[in-house]
Amino acid sequence: MCGIVGFIGKKRQAAPIILDGLSKLEYRGYDSAGMAVFDGDSINVVKAAGRLDLLVSLTHGGETTKGLAGIGHTRWATHGQPTDINAHPHLNGKGTIAVVHNGIIENYMALRKMLVGRGYEFKSETDTEVIPQLLDLYYKGDPLEAIQKVLHRVEGSYSLGIIFADHPNELYAARKSSPLICAKTEEGAFIASDVPALLKYTRKVYYIGEEEIVRLSADDIAFFDVDALPVEKEEVEIKWDAEAAEKGGYEFFMIKEIYEEPRTVRDTISPRIRDGKVVIEELGLSDEEIAEVSRIHIVACGSAYHAGVTGKYVFEGMARIGVDVDIASEFRYRKPIIGEKDLVIVISQSGETADTLEALRVSHQCGATVLAIVNVVGSSIAREADKVMYTWAGPEISVATTKAYSAQLVSLYLLAIKFALCRKQITEEQAAGYINDLKKLPEQIELLLGGKERLQRFANRYIAATDVFFIGRGIDYAISLEGSLKLKEISYVHSEAYAAGELKHGTISLIEEGTLVVAVATQKELYAKTVSNIVEVKARGAFVLAVTNVGNTDIETNADYVIYIPETNSYFANSLAIIPLQLFGYYVSLGKGFDVDHPRNLAKSVTVE
Ligand code: F6R
Repeated sequence: MCGIVGFIGKKRQAAPIILDGLSKLEYRGYDSAGMAVFDGDSINVVKAAGRLDLLVSLTHGGETTKGLAGIGHTRWATHGQPTDINAHPHLNGKGTIAVVHNGIIENYMALRKMLVGRGYEFKSETDTEVIPQLLDLYYKGDPLEAIQKVLHRVEGSYSLGIIFADHPNELYAARKSSPLICAKTEEGAFIASDVPALLKYTRKVYYIGEEEIVRLSADDIAFFDVDALPVEKEEVEIKWDAEAAEKGGYEFFMIKEIYEEPRTVRDTISPRIRDGKVVIEELGLSDEEIAEVSRIHIVACGSAYHAGVTGKYVFEGMARIGVDVDIASEFRYRKPIIGEKDLVIVISQSGETADTLEALRVSHQCGATVLAIVNVVGSSIAREADKVMYTWAGPEISVATTKAYSAQLVSLYLLAIKFALCRKQITEEQAAGYINDLKKLPEQIELLLGGKERLQRFANRYIAATDVFFIGRGIDYAISLEGSLKLKEISYVHSEAYAAGELKHGTISLIEEGTLVVAVATQKELYAKTVSNIVEVKARGAFVLAVTNVGNTDIETNADYVIYIPETNSYFANSLAIIPLQLFGYYVSLGKGFDVDHPRNLAKSVTVE
């Protein structure tokens, strides 16, 4: 979603650093960009709707916007169109206070009305503009005091970067329910809404806490709570390196990240297998405590939710424990029933998804223990959960998730094996068999990646498709959900996933001559049933691409095109079947000439409700 970068330096100019940092946040999705730099006399603002490149050329790479302190922003429009005027930064009327903001100020209408009543004039349609105006109202020479008062007035979520013209050696920041980090280096101090913006300069960062205010100068950072009392904070070392967030010769991050899946899966599994056993120290629960968990609630959004759907099948089948799986935006408002001995598992790549974070908080209000499966170390969800199981996918830049999703899947498998053993639903010997299958996944994924040209040729045939249906049963249905999302979100082809047995209850009327149906049939006990569904759609003229296990060659009697996945146990088939489906989505988008990594209207990290 929106991105923030701010810098206050000793000698180095702020603008080029801000532009460079913003370019590292482009993957989050945005539709306008801007920055405000203090040149020693006044605050200069340049902002424009469109890509960051425009801002770069308007300022000659930052050359024409001189000054040692500044704040920059990429905006993903929520309140008001993506126009020059609505782009951030926003200023008070005198142009002496500049603000960039991520999040939503929920009571902005009331605040705006109050401010207009006091003679303040507004230029934009944004919720953000109330902040510089409120700061103006409360500012009596002490920025900290003014910010503190503003934070007491605003409701909603925010991460803020602020500069005051009459405090040229300071830059301020604050956050609530929207990510923001800061760091100090030899050359100056930074703020950023996400780690990749800073990787080039430092790997030691501070995570700004809920409702905290930060004062940065070129050589110091001071933290305060919302009542302006000092807060002690420790630096956190980020393990990701700068190269991990670069394309490294690939045309798009998405294909690079697909290629990183074998490593991601290996890195997520291997620290949790010791002496042939699953060891998940982060869980912090004894075997007896695990055995006593009475129900699991998995809560997430989008692809992470789809990983959760697979998790339900795996936990219920392998560990025989009841699992509810919920979309976070529904869970948070549906008054969930959570028992004392239930475990809530939230899944999130970014660790910042607003609905998932709120679902976590709702779970806490219900008294539940929350385990988070998260990719971004130190993210809000990681910090608020009781236990954290990190997926070791490294930075995921492409908006459409691939490697983080794969890491989420294997994290769930590891947990399911552990639960199944503790609940005495499988023997040590069976667990060893599952672990063996898990260890084979990285190589099997590599094998599937070797077939990418065939997928590309097939995708090129379907570039003009307008409707695609994905069908499957059980775990194959969960795979279909994700395969369908991958295709539609980046190629803008309408596609839907259906439980294969459900198609005939209405949707089959949409199948006509040549409609592409992707049938996933990896589950041995459901194979014959899915083949019957393939026959049904074939009879209505569909063209069927089947994804099935190696050896199921009889499927060629009914399917038009077949992709075989290597042999694994049914529970882990998703990890293999999803690879050709991710590649299919990628190649359709590539063939259509789209910006694969930045699909329209989408943001990488959805930090608003
Ligand atoms: C789709 C995709 C999204 C995310 C969803 C949750 O490719 O990436 O559906 O899975 O927005 O995001 P996180 O995992 O960051 O909570």
